[in-house]
Amino acid sequence: CGIVAYVGHREACPLVIKGLKRLEYRGYDSAGVALMNGQGLKVYKKKGKVVALEHELEGKDTHSTIGMGHTRWATHGEPNDVNAHPHYSFHKKLAIIHNGIIENYAAIKQALLKKGHTFSSETDTEVLGQFIEDIWENNGGTLEEAVRLALQEVVGAYAIVIMNEADPTQLIAARKGSPLVIGVGENEFFLASDATPIVEYTKDVIYLNDYEIAVIKEGVLKVVTLDNATTTPYVHKVELELEAIEKGGFDHFMLKEIFEQPRSIADSMRGRVRADEGTLQLGGLRDYLDKLAKSKRIVIIGCGTSWHAGLVAEYIFEELARIPVEVEYASEFRYRNPIIKEGDIVIAISQSGETADTLAAIELAKSKGATIFGVCNVVGSSIARATHAGAFTHAGPEIGVASTKAFTAQVTVLTLMALAAAKRKGTISDSLFRQLLAELESIPAKVEKVLQAADKIKEIAYIFTYARNFIYLGRGLNFPVALEGALKLKEISYIHAEGYPAAEMKHGPIALIDEDMPVVVIATKDSSYEKVVSNIQEVKARKGRVIAITTEGDTNLPGIVDFTIEIPKVHEMLMPLVSVVPLQLLAYDIAVMRGRNVDQPRNLAKSVTVE
Ligand code: G6P
Repeated sequence: CGIVAYVGHREACPLVIKGLKRLEYRGYDSAGVALMNGQGLKVYKKKGKVVALEHELEGKDTHSTIGMGHTRWATHGEPNDVNAHPHYSFHKKLAIIHNGIIENYAAIKQALLKKGHTFSSETDTEVLGQFIEDIWENNGGTLEEAVRLALQEVVGAYAIVIMNEADPTQLIAARKGSPLVIGVGENEFFLASDATPIVEYTKDVIYLNDYEIAVIKEGVLKVVTLDNATTTPYVHKVELELEAIEKGGFDHFMLKEIFEQPRSIADSMRGRVRADEGTLQLGGLRDYLDKLAKSKRIVIIGCGTSWHAGLVAEYIFEELARIPVEVEYASEFRYRNPIIKEGDIVIAISQSGETADTLAAIELAKSKGATIFGVCNVVGSSIARATHAGAFTHAGPEIGVASTKAFTAQVTVLTLMALAAAKRKGTISDSLFRQLLAELESIPAKVEKVLQAADKIKEIAYIFTYARNFIYLGRGLNFPVALEGALKLKEISYIHAEGYPAAEMKHGPIALIDEDMPVVVIATKDSSYEKVVSNIQEVKARKGRVIAITTEGDTNLPGIVDFTIEIPKVHEMLMPLVSVVPLQLLAYDIAVMRGRNVDQPRNLAKSVTVE
């Protein structure tokens, strides 16, 4: 699910390979490149990581000033050399790389089979490549036309790039639903799924829109729509700096990102919160704040960690702004004819801004007349552009597949939205409003303090490295944190972990507890503290081993539980911003000790652009 392509005056192969490595974080299981020199259009591809592809290329003549590369996350057909992209067309006149899913590929394939075509892979991509070539051969027009006609027939989502044997200066790209960014240099062009492989060469980028085709030929870029109307693309300046996408001395991106949280939380509040003046401003919502305050209901949609951030926001919005909130997996929301009424607000949360399910859910909610706010981390992303208004998280690029700083940035921004709505609605007292703003400003320092306990957390992690299961418990705002802690552990260590509301444990998971079962309990001093302590007693009575996240100065719990990790005192409403941090570190340490590939866990993708 990563695309990189280049045409210009440089050697394309090393540039494309480097770009694919920059996109590795998105998750993939095979990789390939297409190049073109005196020997025509050549495709090399390999199951596994980009290094495997590099080995494959050793000793080959890779000289070429045009090239494209792809990292594939398997959808149709298992990950192997054959199913990897690029794919040749039937007569090998062109090669294609593709992200997304062609839903009607089976019907197109049938038609091509009848014409005598044969296929070497099981992919929908090969079908599309052959389809385009077939139209090109039979219509007698240009390749550009053939691409346009083929895409008019296609149902599904795609970002594609095509190279063709007949023209070594030509790249054709198109998008619908899957992201594609064009970097514009001096007599050279770069194409990629996101800006990370491009920023070291140029800061001028064009975000291709849905239903647009980009044709680069002899150093000139033209953008047309599927209906063949020429459009004038807008050239954005990306702010992304190279340091932001490199590890900067940390062993893994994930660890770097965990440690960046004091800054990313502060950045997400910068220019918005003035605790000393008691003011809060969200520029992107200015014209919509009334609508939010008056809304009858808020529906929050997201996937994975973003969905967890939504669960935290549910508590905060309901408590402060007294607006009923429903939190839904985007994938479920869109397939059950959801009820959207006038006055409903939908908040879509997405780090990448590209998650296909979330994007599709937005389109559905829009078609039913809802007002949509986005909470995204990537400026220019599809979701950011599809929403009516919103507030960006300013976490900076998140490269580790397991989301960490994006989560705390999302919770920060959602808290600001709830506070702004409550203030406008008059459901929050001035003193609580001011108090929460001041508390928010103190969060970065408190997170910093938790990070100082990293060594202690590592010692605890060591003890539980060989656990086969984990349970995470929390109540209230710490319940979503328990879910998030469990998700982090399973994503990167492959240990089975479940998050549960602490009180719900007795209705099921308690059956799992024995002396081998580690139970992580978030037991901070808040309104449910006493109840959580009772839940801990229930675990201890069954010999479970308890790791408790406690509030600094709690002298009671160390006598009851096996291990404690202290965190600073935090206002209950803001607790998740701090209590999630030790759980991120615990998951990270266990995964490292188990020798896992922390930044690129198996089977997972950072940005899931398929439904
Ligand atoms: C993938 C990632 C998760 C992420 C989820 C939602 O599953 O591996 O880390 O939480 O997608 O992504 P989004 O970019 O929409 O927040």
